[in-house]
Amino acid sequence: MKSGLTLIIVLALIQITKQDCFRQSNSFLKRNHQNVLSYQAGALISSKLKNGFNNGNNGVCLRDNLYKILNDGLPYTACGKGQSISIRLLQKYLLNTLKIWLWDYGFSEGDRYYNITVYAILNQGKKNIYVSNSENPAISQMTIQFQEQYVDEFEVVNVDGNTFNQGLHIIKVEAYYKFY
Ligand SMILES: *[C@@H]1O[C@H](CO)[C@@H](O)[C@H](O)[C@H]1NC(C)=O
Repeated sequence: MKSGLTLIIVLALIQITKQDCFRQSNSFLKRNHQNVLSYQAGALISSKLKNGFNNGNNGVCLRDNLYKILNDGLPYTACGKGQSISIRLLQKYLLNTLKIWLWDYGFSEGDRYYNITVYAILNQGKKNIYVSNSENPAISQMTIQFQEQYVDEFEVVNVDGNTFNQGLHIIKVEAYYKFY
């Protein structure tokens, strides 16, 4: 009788511990450490009608096959001054890092700096996560770290072109939860 009771208590303890473990790993998984801005992750370019895709579908900034450099650089997704490039996620994810690879193949003009503003969006509520400035310039492969938050869309606004012309040219984007 006594050992039966002990067994029940031990089993109950195991059950509680297991639930705790599950709860923890569950919230761990919400922090998405894989890139959510890819074809495989179900992301879509929601601003597509206002964007240009250099070299057709090869210019979609969600693709992975982009390390073969053409004579004139790499295909990119583009928009004009005052327009934006927006990417809608499959669902909301808890994120804190956005990487943007901007066109960085200069043709004798030197480094190319962009003038952009970036928003993380959830249910149409926009939060500004980046404004380019001289301390934090928008150039080449840049990483934007922001306060962790749920995001269902990113918007990159072309505020005032770049140091060479009026366009915004994005080669690739990535977003994930980074553990620091
Ligand atoms: C970006 O463009 C805006 C509008 O023209 C301007 O006010 C701002 O100073 C520019 N920022 C940089 C870093 O050049």
